[in-house]
Amino acid sequence: MNNVTKTIPEFNSKIKRVIITEDEIKAAVAKVGKEISDGYDGRPILLVSILKGAFVFMADILRAITVPCEVGFMCAKSYYSNSTVSAGAVKITMDLDQDISNYHVIIVEDIVDTGRTLRDVVNLLKARNPLSLRVLTLLDKPSRRKVEFTADISLFTIPDYFVIGYGLDCGEFYRNLPYIAEYNEEKGE
Ligand code: PRP
Repeated sequence: MNNVTKTIPEFNSKIKRVIITEDEIKAAVAKVGKEISDGYDGRPILLVSILKGAFVFMADILRAITVPCEVGFMCAKSYYSNSTVSAGAVKITMDLDQDISNYHVIIVEDIVDTGRTLRDVVNLLKARNPLSLRVLTLLDKPSRRKVEFTADISLFTIPDYFVIGYGLDCGEFYRNLPYIAEYNEEKGE
């Protein structure tokens, strides 16, 4: 343990407004969970969550799927911690611990922004020869794209708001909000 203390943000004043409610998320997750389950053909499914942001979505989509499936976790970092500015480079800080060659893999992501994280993760996983590979994202911000990338399934397309909640953070906080909100970037609030 070191002695560095972390400043706790002015929590509520930074939540500008809710843009996707808890009920809207629940309905969309249930619909996609059913679609994935209905398309099941008896072959093994592996859901791969990209940490940290996707962990809340992963827990909900997993429980909305009613056929056998396994889970795996990878950690990818695209932003400098405590910053709202994209760093431009993606680092895999924790890899899967299973061979994916016998699975239909569904990558579960919270948001596609510049597209760099998923471009790199998809290239990495494709090289491991899964039976098939699809990308499921909760949010898509197409106006922010820096590399060409389209998810196979996207629950909500949003404008270029800085969003927090339901796993998404600002400076590691706000992941525990049960909805998606716009972050208030104004100073002095
Ligand atoms: C966020 C988010 C995605 C990625 C999307 O992760 O969870 O993985 O950025 O951005 P991109 O399309 O521009 O690559 P982040 O690196 O902030 O880490 P976190 O998931 O731990 O919050």
